[in-house]
Amino acid sequence: MAVEFDPNTPNAARMYDYYLGGKDNFPVDRAAAEQVLRHVPEIPLGIRENRAFLQRAVRFLAEQGIRQFLDIGAGLPTQRNVHQVVAEIDPEARTVYVDNDPQVLVHARALLQDSPQVLVVEGDLRRPSAIMDHPEVRAHLNFDEPIAVLLLAIIHFIPDSDDPTGVIAEIRNRLAPGSHMVLSHVAIDERPEAAPEVEGVYRSASAQFVARMSSEIEPFFDGLDVVPPGIVNLHEWRPDSPVLAPPLEKVKSYFLCGVGRIN
Ligand SMILES: C[S@@+](CC[C@H](N)C(=O)[O-])C[C@H]1O[C@@H](n2cnc3c(N)ncnc32)[C@H](O)[C@@H]1O
Repeated sequence: MAVEFDPNTPNAARMYDYYLGGKDNFPVDRAAAEQVLRHVPEIPLGIRENRAFLQRAVRFLAEQGIRQFLDIGAGLPTQRNVHQVVAEIDPEARTVYVDNDPQVLVHARALLQDSPQVLVVEGDLRRPSAIMDHPEVRAHLNFDEPIAVLLLAIIHFIPDSDDPTGVIAEIRNRLAPGSHMVLSHVAIDERPEAAPEVEGVYRSASAQFVARMSSEIEPFFDGLDVVPPGIVNLHEWRPDSPVLAPPLEKVKSYFLCGVGRIN
């Protein structure tokens, strides 16, 4: 299901853009984001860590020889998007960006689809087979060869009633051996008391945030051979530079991530 373009309803992609310091957001998004920030002021640091993790994970996979990337819930274009990171290793590598938000798609087509190696398509993670059977996706990616599927900061918008575990399994079962899944998910272990407030703000937004503890997130990696260092906080995953967010360094579980291989 595509999200309707609506400048008067808080939008998850535009709120994320606001946390990142972007300009593709409206007053209603900024007001909702500010409400969230009152409860969880460290969100912008977490999101910068999430983007840094994306870049490290994509580079790691490209260095392992992966040449096909499927980024579901790609978000509004920002700095160093997937295909730009991949191109540093192999300019011929292919990337597909998927989102269900029309504004994301317009911006992504304008800013990201800048080479034949990049495709932007509308798709809903809750219907993964529709994405993987999409004729344009199938023309762009070879499902007989390894693919890296990125599910970054999106599963926490999929409620249990939409069966996130089943969605992940459906994708996993369609991928060739040697494929990988990359996942990141907000964990509320450190701030369970803020969770209802944040869920409340997102209740009226384009996508509803689902608060989960790390014990509920770790099973999303079942069936995957998780590569070292395992399922960890964003800044702990193969850091290549000093940690961006010192206050988060001491926190046990705030935003979990991991990379799993399909054997
Ligand atoms: C928080 S942003 C994350 C962007 C990027 N993946 C990252 O980690 O930087 C979440 C994105 O997922 C998209 N999204 C939410 N629910 C979705 C769904 N069911 N299917 C496809 N995209 C979805 C939103 O439109 C938004 O662009």
